[in-house]
Amino acid sequence: MRYLTFALTKGRLADKTLAALEGIGLGCEEMKDKDSRKLIFVNEEKKLKFFLAKGPDVPTYVEHGAADIGVTGKDIIMEENRNIFEVLDLGFGKCRMCVCGPKEAEEKLKHHEMIRVATKYPKIAKDYFHNKKHQTVDIIKLNGSIELAPIVGLSDVIVDIVETGTTLRENGLTVLEEVCPLSARMVVNQVSMRLEQQRIRSIINELKEKL
Ligand code: PRP
Repeated sequence: MRYLTFALTKGRLADKTLAALEGIGLGCEEMKDKDSRKLIFVNEEKKLKFFLAKGPDVPTYVEHGAADIGVTGKDIIMEENRNIFEVLDLGFGKCRMCVCGPKEAEEKLKHHEMIRVATKYPKIAKDYFHNKKHQTVDIIKLNGSIELAPIVGLSDVIVDIVETGTTLRENGLTVLEEVCPLSARMVVNQVSMRLEQQRIRSIINELKEKL
């Protein structure tokens, strides 16, 4: 039997994914040692390998077949737009992709004014404004702390993830429009899905039963 390789998203999502996999008897003891500098972890008995990657790299590993299966956020899957199968909503890591800004920006949105939109997700923002709202906007790509942009005058609004809403509240910003709901998803390499259909299908089904 060949190894099935999982690419997990570093951080909270990895912990939740490992707990979900453990729930169906596919855990990885080695991975629980937080001091370890190892990059690849193996479950010899079940012939599984696991590695941790930055979220946006997970779809890349899966598309190229370096991982058979990946788990990352729907935001990343949409932004990366890779040739992979999205097979399961894992139900955790729930949050929303939203257009946010100061209350005053609401009018500019309503009247389809030419606005500046700062975001870590240019593809999602472009799709939302250009294709869904038919509004021409100027998209500015940032890499983090997106809420800063409207505060310091870099943009009118932002397109970003809202989980608890605390970051917005503490910075005098608010949700103006919801783009879509988000959560952790399982993705599969297209060739692996054919070659390892039985094993992968049973993992999906067992995880589904526990949801
Ligand atoms: C994310 C997101 C928001 C925040 C939302 O940032 O970009 O800033 O979390 O969470 P909240 O609604 O619970 O406050 P992250 O912490 O990933 O860091 P980043 O700013 O570097 O993207």
